[in-house]
Amino acid sequence: MRVLVTGGAGFIGSHYVRELVSGSYPAFAGAEVVVLDKLTYAGSETNLAPVAGKFEFVRGDICDPSVVAEQMRGVDVVVHFAAESHVDRSITGSADFVLTNVLGTQTLLQGALNAGVGRFVHVSTDEVYGSIEDGSWSENHVLEPNSPYSASKASSDLLARAFHRTHGLPVSITRCSNNYGPYQFPEKVIPVFVTNLIDGRKVPLYGDGLNVRDWLHVDDHCRGIQLVAEGGRPGEIYNIGGGTELTNRELTERLLAATGRDWSFVEPVQDRLGHDRRYSVDISKISAELGYKPQVDFEVGLADTVEWYRENRAWWEPLKERAQSAKG
Ligand SMILES: NC(=O)c1ccc[n+]([C@@H]2O[C@H](COP(=O)([O-])OP(=O)(O)OC[C@H]3O[C@@H](n4cnc5c(N)ncnc54)[C@H](O)[C@@H]3O)[C@@H](O)[C@H]2O)c1
Repeated sequence: MRVLVTGGAGFIGSHYVRELVSGSYPAFAGAEVVVLDKLTYAGSETNLAPVAGKFEFVRGDICDPSVVAEQMRGVDVVVHFAAESHVDRSITGSADFVLTNVLGTQTLLQGALNAGVGRFVHVSTDEVYGSIEDGSWSENHVLEPNSPYSASKASSDLLARAFHRTHGLPVSITRCSNNYGPYQFPEKVIPVFVTNLIDGRKVPLYGDGLNVRDWLHVDDHCRGIQLVAEGGRPGEIYNIGGGTELTNRELTERLLAATGRDWSFVEPVQDRLGHDRRYSVDISKISAELGYKPQVDFEVGLADTVEWYRENRAWWEPLKERAQSAKG
């Protein structure tokens, strides 16, 4: 079996690759794994260093049809993580989001179709549904993306759906909630807050801090993706959630407690433009069909994550600098 993982040098993709090549997913044991990644500011081969030698790495752009055609040859399964993923960056400039998330996904879908790939898992986000006051989204909910990031992901989901409907490409879509865990790039809220607090610096809390997010440990997310890769029905969408909904204030309180800081380290800042109030996915479909259940307890997962950032300054310090310079 040959598995092509796009964006495998990023946060979630690298977790998936580390687990896959370490034998955590027995159905794919012994698979040849190829990582295709452009290594943008968000990607790093260091994320894959613990499993170096157990996979092939190709530096390339998913928007490049010749690179994609070459890498699709002989591939049985594609797991597509590669994306521009940071909402704030999509607000200050959205062109790269449209290029990678829309054109890049289309290029991969076409490449997979041409090569006769047997299964394609397109990793998406619950942000495509917009914002919800009460209740949770099922997979049939209308798409109402509010940021350029989520609009570009919704566009890629529609292309994936269309390649299934038009060409019969065996593509399944996953839509997950907010991930956390080790190796998350220090521009997202948990790594920014943890690393700032470890260093005794303030943390910026958007608006009134009452926006609600459902937190999903990256290990649970990757387990859900693997279930879809093994048994998801082509043409279907599967929500993947973690089951821990918290306001950003509640999350901040927990991070302050975990790092021994108090509210004097919190600096309220102007709210993000178009900030979605609440995300909440209904995971009954993937639970019933594929037996998915989040396994990482949030308290334990968060404590482990904080500990990981404490122990891995050499990993995040240069990336934080890179994040700053990539902004300018
Ligand atoms: N992080 C989350 O909480 C979250 C939540 C929902 C959905 N997702 C989705 O999961 C996927 C992975 O997210 P992540 O947090 O690991 O992202 P990330 O930003 O950490 O990693 C993205 C990876 O894609 C690579 N990449 C970017 N553009 C590329 C291109 N044109 N060609 C090849 N490689 C390219 C980058 O180098 C990087 O390694 C994305 O599709 C994202 O939309 C993430």
